[in-house]
Amino acid sequence: MRIILLGAPGAGKGTQAQFLMGKFGIPQISTGDMLRSAISAGTELGLAAKKVMDEGKLVSDEIIIGLVKERIAQPDCENGFLLDGFPRTIPQADAMKENGVDVDHVIEFDVADDIIVERMAGRRVHPASGRVYHVTYNPPKVEGKDDVTGEELVIRADDQEETVRKRLGIYHEQTKPLVDYYSNEAASGRCAYHKVDGTKPVEQVSQELSVLLA
Ligand code: AP5
Ligand code: ZN
Repeated sequence: MRIILLGAPGAGKGTQAQFLMGKFGIPQISTGDMLRSAISAGTELGLAAKKVMDEGKLVSDEIIIGLVKERIAQPDCENGFLLDGFPRTIPQADAMKENGVDVDHVIEFDVADDIIVERMAGRRVHPASGRVYHVTYNPPKVEGKDDVTGEELVIRADDQEETVRKRLGIYHEQTKPLVDYYSNEAASGRCAYHKVDGTKPVEQVSQELSVLLA
């Protein structure tokens, strides 16, 4: 099963990707996590991406498309994958199509901007696994520690309010057009399109996804 998770920063893509990975046994491909790993590793890509990400802007389509093409060619993607944070521009979506990468489901997470700003203020992440928590809405079992490894949780560099607002602006400008893009794809029978209310509690959203993807 090939699934695209579409939604604003903080809409819950990464959170539900963790749930769906477990449920369907398919890998999460988070372009954001891939870029953050490159930054931690100090690679050339990481150095180039850091400044752009810290400013809340998008990394170039060319770089991102190359990264994803390489990733989905790996053997663990044979039975499908979850795209989290990709595509997020029309050229990225077109590149998928041109490369013959069909998708089965596109899931849009609908969350208002003000809720997102509040969510980001409380987000904590475990960089090595991509697991995501919230101090109030999805707290770890032990404060400040990852549930599985017990390692320290961190605050993402791009989660300050000013940067979050910039990212939201870019989402509305460059990514929101994909809602129409994939709704049209669905109308032509090329995929299924589902819009979910991302403001419900985490477990309820997961439950809804289970029903939609059954
Ligand atoms: P990326 O890492 O993809 O960030 P994003 O899309 O901005 O999304 P987030 O990871 O911030 O949010 P999310 O939807 O995963 O929410 P989460 O589940 O964590 O990208 C970062 C940067 O990399 C970009 O700005 C760009 O520079 C670059 N980049 C990446 N991909 C790119 C691309 N394709 N092209 C160009 N550049 C690219 O949840 C957020 C918080 O809310 C958490 O604390 C969570 O616990 C909580 N939460 C989740 N669900 C709920 C719920 N239902 N109720 C209450 N709280 C909830
Ligand atoms: Zn994410």
